[in-house]
Amino acid sequence: MELLFIGDIVGSPGRDMVSEYLPKLKQKYRPSMTIINGENAAGGRGITEKIYKTFMNDGANVITLGNHTWDNRDIFEFIDGTKWLIRPANFPEGVPGKGIAYVPAGEFEVAVINLQGRVFMSDLDCPFKKADELVEEARRRTPFIFVDFHAETTSEKQAMGWFLDGRVTAVVGTHTHVQTADNRVLPGGTAYLTDAGMTGPYDGILGMEKEAIIKKFQNALPARFEVPKEGRTQLSGCIIQVDRKTGLAKSIRRILINEDHPFSDY
Ligand SMILES: [Fe+2]
Repeated sequence: MELLFIGDIVGSPGRDMVSEYLPKLKQKYRPSMTIINGENAAGGRGITEKIYKTFMNDGANVITLGNHTWDNRDIFEFIDGTKWLIRPANFPEGVPGKGIAYVPAGEFEVAVINLQGRVFMSDLDCPFKKADELVEEARRRTPFIFVDFHAETTSEKQAMGWFLDGRVTAVVGTHTHVQTADNRVLPGGTAYLTDAGMTGPYDGILGMEKEAIIKKFQNALPARFEVPKEGRTQLSGCIIQVDRKTGLAKSIRRILINEDHPFSDY
């Protein structure tokens, strides 16, 4: 069984890449399910209900979020009505939405868990404690468990990978928007990648217009960052091959599509 993950979609350039390449990626890898991180999908900040529906129409099975979950305030109106949109599970008790979804994948069911780190980020509940709770719950239902760990530091993400090694199918990091080259199956059988990278503008800074960001590094004044409307784009993600009997990973390969790494369908 194959699981396809596409990293942080930034604005309309990222959404267009999903529409264009998701069918091609599905044809190439034949995944049983597709997971997309959509926390930057609406102009770099949050997600709208319309965008959520577009991703589902494009062929995604479940959408994960992160620290930008609440940026589009409409989310409070629709998140509880969506079945396949999850936000970090370690937000405090009582917050709208949920952090785990059980997603049908052919004859199986995959538990998808979204967690957020705490280093250089908001002080949420402990992601490790929450992971323990949810993984234990999920393992009573299915051996197929995918974790999107939305975190800033490489160390916190590596810690989560090792913490869950042997207990989940995959721990894939998101949030930094820069793909790391450390994809591997850990000794216990968990596929791991520190960061899947970003899907959106290729010539910006983390997907936003570079000029305003370069300026901010020089003058330290408040500035608003926008997603570039034109220009070259990229798609980042990974594909995980899963053992159907154990739910553990056999391999994890990175996916990177841009002008320097053109898509090949073989
Ligand atoms: Fe983020």
